[in-house]
Amino acid sequence: MAEYDWRPEQAEKSLIRILPEVEKTFADKLGQEPHEWHKFKNRLHSEWERLFIYLHQLYGWQYDFFHTLQRILNTLVQCWLERPAELKLLDEKREADPYWFLSEKVVGGVLYVDLFSDNLAKLDDHIPYFKKLGLNYLHLMPLFAVPKGDNDGGYAVSDYRAINPDIGTMEELFKLTAALRDQGISLVLDFVFNHTSDEHIWAQKAKSGDPDFMAYYYTFASRELPDQFQKYLRDIFPTIKKGSFTWCQEMKRWVWTTFNSFQWDLNYTNPNVFCAMAEEMLFLANQGVEVLRLDAVAFIWKRLGTNCENQPEAHTIIRAFNAVAKIVAPCLLFKSEAIVHPDEVIRYIHPDECQLSYNPLLMALLWEALATRETKLLEYSMRNRYPTPAGCTWVNFIRCHDDIGWTFDDQDARNVGIDPVGHRKFLNKFYTGDYPGSFAKGVPFQFNADTGDVRISGTFSSLAGLEDAILKQDGELIEQAVRRINLLRSIMVSIGGIPLLYIGDEWGMLNDYTYLTDPTIVNDSRWVHRSKKRWNAREDLNDQDTLEWRFFHEMVELFNLRKKLPALQNGGMEVIHTGNPHLFGYIRAFNEQKILIINNFSEAPQKMDAVHLNACGVKGDVINLMNNDVLSSGKDLVLHGHQSVWLDIS
Ligand code: GLC
Repeated sequence: MAEYDWRPEQAEKSLIRILPEVEKTFADKLGQEPHEWHKFKNRLHSEWERLFIYLHQLYGWQYDFFHTLQRILNTLVQCWLERPAELKLLDEKREADPYWFLSEKVVGGVLYVDLFSDNLAKLDDHIPYFKKLGLNYLHLMPLFAVPKGDNDGGYAVSDYRAINPDIGTMEELFKLTAALRDQGISLVLDFVFNHTSDEHIWAQKAKSGDPDFMAYYYTFASRELPDQFQKYLRDIFPTIKKGSFTWCQEMKRWVWTTFNSFQWDLNYTNPNVFCAMAEEMLFLANQGVEVLRLDAVAFIWKRLGTNCENQPEAHTIIRAFNAVAKIVAPCLLFKSEAIVHPDEVIRYIHPDECQLSYNPLLMALLWEALATRETKLLEYSMRNRYPTPAGCTWVNFIRCHDDIGWTFDDQDARNVGIDPVGHRKFLNKFYTGDYPGSFAKGVPFQFNADTGDVRISGTFSSLAGLEDAILKQDGELIEQAVRRINLLRSIMVSIGGIPLLYIGDEWGMLNDYTYLTDPTIVNDSRWVHRSKKRWNAREDLNDQDTLEWRFFHEMVELFNLRKKLPALQNGGMEVIHTGNPHLFGYIRAFNEQKILIINNFSEAPQKMDAVHLNACGVKGDVINLMNNDVLSSGKDLVLHGHQSVWLDIS
């Protein structure tokens, strides 16, 4: 017999006890908007049970659990009261159309404000540029107050409620989100919730010996526990620091620092940390943020004897944040940044957890197939690993601000006859240009001398061969690089999910090696693809003879085409058998519309024969939507080198 689950009843009881108290506290304000309060209470009643259960799983054993419940409910009401009226309207709009982000109309971009427009105030002037590109999802890389000098590109946050003064102010951000919203663009920001910088007020208080704030972090008086933990941990930035603990002279204690020594991991076994971070999260939501990119999700819970990644409690914490968001700011979505094994990446994706997730596997395997000119690993992995839970989707990208790691599954590789270890070595050599005939100009990132691991930095265009081709002044090589770029773009835009453009890639940004002269970032090769001065190349977009113009316009055309095809919304994605090792194909379908997309990863022309086409449902003459060519009934399809065709087989 199933065990009696006492939790729903206790959840209800707790609400009956706490809510009247909270209502008393905020009586004045609540009386002003009874209708809105009623709607809030409906959401509270439908989400409270699961929030209670998650919090009980995490903190129920602590003597003051009831106090945690009181504190969180207080926060929910307080932050909801602070939520501007226009955002409450947006909540209603999104609640009426909760799956808006699955639409084929949604197209994303990501940028660093300082690199793109110097500051927030000037970003406003560039809204027409985003409109021209067709973006309606805009991710601004971390722009909060950070320590001077190295701050991991903004990922060491000193204050979640203050903008880096070099970039602007919170008021400007608030104004910008409204201006973006007016133009139908949703703002995405990071929620860097695994760690704060060591200059955050909490860390400062911890350093000064305040026990309440020392308990916000993992600190240790001796090496005993750190040494036990360390046995199972991997080094994320091995060239920068060995081990996951940093000695803090002020506290005379070791602090857990998974990433850089100035990024202190938050201790989520402490319910005060959860409550405080929920407040910071809701503060951001109240600035008009619609999607939060949950940074480094894998690391937020530690367990002795494990690698302290992807622990079950990490999921519970995110789900608890999700419930908090659904109550106060129901338009808010979460995007998971889990750059881990694909079996783990998928576990963060759920309507109750992260509705969106980066798709690091697709990204890595597109580069893999480009290097090998073969699609077997890409095809096998996508066939088995693409589906996401209903109401959720991938965010597909080719490049982002981070490095490329070869996160495919070893057994998947073996199943298609690839030795995973040797293959990763090959890919690293290939993309650092250290392999005969390689077209790529990548830069090694975080070489680990102990394991031999390394990851790859570099821009889309430089990795795809454009930099090498331009250096060699070889027109044919330039054309090949352009075709490679267009091929990967075509897949990013069509395979299913939100395509996310790393701004700069729309005009073919190349590597920028000036980071080598800046002592604060010289050891972080990711800056090779985070360049400033080359953004001026946007001016070349007016000159039709430039490559920049061509890249830009081809990108816009592709986005426009996507937006016209309902089959490209989050519907089905079925990987097909092409019968050719260089081709990768899939069918996208929605209602009556069906599109067969075939991509050639080789420089040479490749054929998909009529028998395979027929098996995919190609009957009669069909049109290639990319160029309106007609494929006549019963004919083989011949693709040019690196061509992508979108056949309308509805
Ligand atoms: C994420 C970010 C990366 C950063 C790390 C630590 O992985 O994408 O840039 O270094 O988190 O915050």
